[in-house]
Amino acid sequence: MKLTWLGHSCILLTGTSCVLVDPFIGDGIPVEENPDIVAVTHGHADHFGDTLRLAKKTVAINEIAKYLKNRGIPAEGMNIGGTIEVEGVRFTMTPAVHSAWFESAAPGYCGGVAAGYVIAMDGKRIYHAGDTALFSDMKLIGQLYDPDVALLPIGGRFTMGPDEAMMAAQFIGAPLVIPIHYNTWPKISQDPSSFKRAIERTTDLKVTILAPGESIEL
Ligand code: NI
Ligand code: MN
Repeated sequence: MKLTWLGHSCILLTGTSCVLVDPFIGDGIPVEENPDIVAVTHGHADHFGDTLRLAKKTVAINEIAKYLKNRGIPAEGMNIGGTIEVEGVRFTMTPAVHSAWFESAAPGYCGGVAAGYVIAMDGKRIYHAGDTALFSDMKLIGQLYDPDVALLPIGGRFTMGPDEAMMAAQFIGAPLVIPIHYNTWPKISQDPSSFKRAIERTTDLKVTILAPGESIEL
């Protein structure tokens, strides 16, 4: 499976199926393929992004799924703690500690709650934390789903910063950590290389820093 970071929280997984998570795509970064499935972690515009334009099929929390279905986009609604299988890909919706105003719908429109996903495809499990604070139940995500990769926000201000994400990485225990949700704007400016050094100095975990548009093979 190939994992591509398209900037901010947007991740493209290419394998048996092509899954795009949180399609808020950085300027000038091409989306090479038509995704089979778009998964949305929560309603904030920097995550819902281009869902209406790109989605053939979506996975989202019930409140967002209902909105999408009303606009003619096929949507698989689910909720925190549940697992569904769509076109051979398993999506488990995990908690996130964050707000969930659905900006694209209307001012104050309820987007349910914020979430993350464990996505299982082609024998690999990817944990995309969405936007979240650190929470100790991340240990359960590690124990239950044993992810191969953890995509963790490190930008601070709206989510965990590097110190909290370092503890999150240890709670989850995925051997590979990829930082996301940083340096999109000055308010979430961080140095990912110091995050990488701090984790790799004190744990057995590895951190891969991707450039927007860059891929790795898992
Ligand atoms: Ni958010
Ligand atoms: Mn965000």
